[in-house]
Amino acid sequence: MFQLNGKKAVVTGGGSGIGQAIATVFAARGAQVHILELNATAAMSTLETIEKAGGKAEVYACNVADQAEVIKAMEAIGGIDILVNCAGIAHVGKLETTSEFDFDRVYSVNVKGTYNCMFAAIPQLRKQGGGVILNVASIASTVGITDRFAYSMSKGAVLTMTLSVARDYLAENIRCNCISPARVHTPFVDGFIAKNYPGREAEMFEKLSKSQPIGRMAKPEEVAWLALYLCSDQAGFITGTDYPIDGGFIRLNN
Ligand SMILES: NC(=O)c1ccc[n+]([C@@H]2O[C@H](COP(=O)([O-])OP(=O)(O)OC[C@H]3O[C@@H](n4cnc5c(N)ncnc54)[C@H](O)[C@@H]3O)[C@@H](O)[C@H]2O)c1
Repeated sequence: MFQLNGKKAVVTGGGSGIGQAIATVFAARGAQVHILELNATAAMSTLETIEKAGGKAEVYACNVADQAEVIKAMEAIGGIDILVNCAGIAHVGKLETTSEFDFDRVYSVNVKGTYNCMFAAIPQLRKQGGGVILNVASIASTVGITDRFAYSMSKGAVLTMTLSVARDYLAENIRCNCISPARVHTPFVDGFIAKNYPGREAEMFEKLSKSQPIGRMAKPEEVAWLALYLCSDQAGFITGTDYPIDGGFIRLNN
């Protein structure tokens, strides 16, 4: 069950957090993992972990916001079976505290980056006779979260791009889904707490943990197991769906 032997899987943002956990779990399940990362040094440490455990991986220094770079990397990889779009960045602020620069920055990575990777991967998936795309959206795709204006905009687009691609590539045997985590304890969360709430880090960590009714943040590995299922052949009937993985955040916060 849930084996990826013989599959080529591209994971963006595999140098840290959720992407790192997905790359590691996929390699442990037999996939040949190709990591597209802005931070190649971080990706090399994921690669070392994978290789030490007997898995196979390659690293491509790549900014997902740059279409030419993404196409070059995907062509070099060739014949892709699985694409996981995990690279993403955050911004804390409401509409009036979101500058045009920050809006464009979040858009270019989270929206355009996801588009670029799907754009470049689909011809490769087609060559294989089909495949799977998994996009990392967020609870912010469907729930109004305080001070996440640009981030919510971007993750809403990830969800709707997922539906559009799932519909358009049904006949080509390409499944496309997204997952929507609530808070996951990664450098992404630690980074934005440190940047936006200096001196109140412990208080904010506690607050963000408690905002999941289950009482804590997710572990990256817990998200990776859901990703593994959705990218495996056992999930062959699942396309055009958004999976919350949220400790009860969406339905049980009352
Ligand atoms: N951590 C959470 O609470 C949480 C919740 C919901 C959704 N998400 C989403 O999950 C994804 C991963 O988040 P994480 O918490 O693991 O973050 P993270 O910061 O730990 O890892 C993100 C990785 O993406 C890479 N990256 C950033 N911009 C890039 C670019 N332009 N090109 C290539 N790589 C780039 C970074 O270098 C980093 O290694 C993001 O899309 C994020 O929005 C995270």
